[in-house]
Amino acid sequence: MAEKIFSSAVIGLNCEPVEVEADVSSGMPHFIVVGLPDTAVQESRERVRSAIKNSGFKFPRGRVAANLAPADIKKAGPSYDLPIAVSLLLTSRQIFPRSDLSKSLFIGELALNGQLRGVNGILSIVLMAREKEFKTIYLPAINAREASLIDEVEIVPVTTLAELVQILQQEKKSPEIEKLDFVSELENIDYGSSDMSHIKGQEQVKRALEIVAAGAHNILMGGPPGSGKTFLARTLPTILPKLNIEESLEITRIYSVAGLLPSSQPIAKKRPFRNPHHTASGVALVGGGTWPKPGEISLAHRGILFLDEFPEFDRRVLENLRQPLEDGIVSISRASGTVEFPAKFILVAAQNPCPCGYASDPERNCTCSPMQIMNYQKKISGPLLDRIDLHVEVPRVDFEKLVGESKQESSKEIRVRVEGARKIQNERFKKFDIFTNSEMSSEQVKEFCPLDESTKELIRSAVSQLHLSARSYYRILKLARTIADLGKNKDIKSEHVAEALQYRPRIE
Ligand SMILES: Nc1ncnc2c1ncn2[C@@H]1O[C@H](COP(=O)(O)OP(=O)(O)OP(=O)(O)O)[C@@H](O)[C@H]1O
Ligand SMILES: [Mg+2]
Repeated sequence: MAEKIFSSAVIGLNCEPVEVEADVSSGMPHFIVVGLPDTAVQESRERVRSAIKNSGFKFPRGRVAANLAPADIKKAGPSYDLPIAVSLLLTSRQIFPRSDLSKSLFIGELALNGQLRGVNGILSIVLMAREKEFKTIYLPAINAREASLIDEVEIVPVTTLAELVQILQQEKKSPEIEKLDFVSELENIDYGSSDMSHIKGQEQVKRALEIVAAGAHNILMGGPPGSGKTFLARTLPTILPKLNIEESLEITRIYSVAGLLPSSQPIAKKRPFRNPHHTASGVALVGGGTWPKPGEISLAHRGILFLDEFPEFDRRVLENLRQPLEDGIVSISRASGTVEFPAKFILVAAQNPCPCGYASDPERNCTCSPMQIMNYQKKISGPLLDRIDLHVEVPRVDFEKLVGESKQESSKEIRVRVEGARKIQNERFKKFDIFTNSEMSSEQVKEFCPLDESTKELIRSAVSQLHLSARSYYRILKLARTIADLGKNKDIKSEHVAEALQYRPRIE
């Protein structure tokens, strides 16, 4: 007789329930797993066999088959070990659960000695369980704190197969979970030792970064070597607003699926700062692989993607950013279907103006030929530059300023203003599923960025003089909205639009 229980398949960030059933019949000893399993699932045969024996049970004799259904979903990873083992023990009448298991999920990798190992994607699994009305999840104890972020599902942490059997037969009570207090976790964050006050001068760049942080806009910093571009970008996280619960859950889910969530810290507390090297491949940047995993742009979701030495990146690799920068989501197509990962990140790019680095320096001579400068700047395509809202020049700092003792504003002071602006945005978008001005659709721009006649005139003449695209027009308005929010202005005035226009790249 076959016994059926449930587990879960993780596909991208989403999950689907999987039925696991085992069957034992007479014949030559043989153990097969069917239902589109990958190699890790095939190897589960060896783990399940040893774990069952080492937990004090007998591995059934004869022909043993485990079926994972539906067969058209590809099953990957080792998390089916536990449901396969439980199903085998049920089928061979070695265990007798005292409760109905039709509303339970079983997840976990087995070690040969019967211990349970943690698996990836738990948060997504629990969210699926809640949606599909599963009541209980039996999972590795190491994943329990992450799972307990969601309230409505009962989480039973398990350390060994033998312990699970005792719990199912009600010979042992399920252990308590130390629950995380989400709100206080997100309140107490350590911003590290870097601080905006360590950066001397560069007031204009700091102002631009404040706008970036407030509205989640993209920025490109250009300037000569050593002027502080990398330094400024690395300090940007210290002025970013705290995460709200939804944002933290979104990030946690991505990191959980990517297997990057430490069990000691099972929620994302800080906005991510990702800094891939310029040799990064397309897959590393946008995600992919036969079993699609999130790439850097998704790991930077709700945080920063910092591309230092921007023109050194492979042009084709960078072109992959165009669609996600527009949609905030990346779709990866595979023969088995399309997987989507969220990718709403702030793009921060830094570059020198030319190969020698001094083309924009008023005091040092540039040694590059006009051809070299042109080729260098051509490395970044127009459509990509069009998606960057703020283009700022980072000049060399004055020696007097660098050694001077003048007091600079701290990150904390700037962050107060940034959080003020985010609060206004949260209020504005509470009926929508967006959080920041940069995420507004054109329709939302029309609704939330009304202009008076003189401001309209200003933007009209700028559009015709600077030959701006429709995209630039909307991006300028979104930026102006953020600038107005930072100043706590309800209406967008011409000074806000004028400042936003100032950040567009200078073209002929
Ligand atoms: N405004 C500043 N105030 C204080 N220190 C600064 C400032 N600008 C630069 N520095 C110092 O100079 C170092 C080099 O700066 P950084 O690496 O950011 O330059 P960069 O503009 O990225 O140069 P490159 O174009 O060569 O990458 C920083 O680590 C920092 O110590
Ligand atoms: Mg640098």
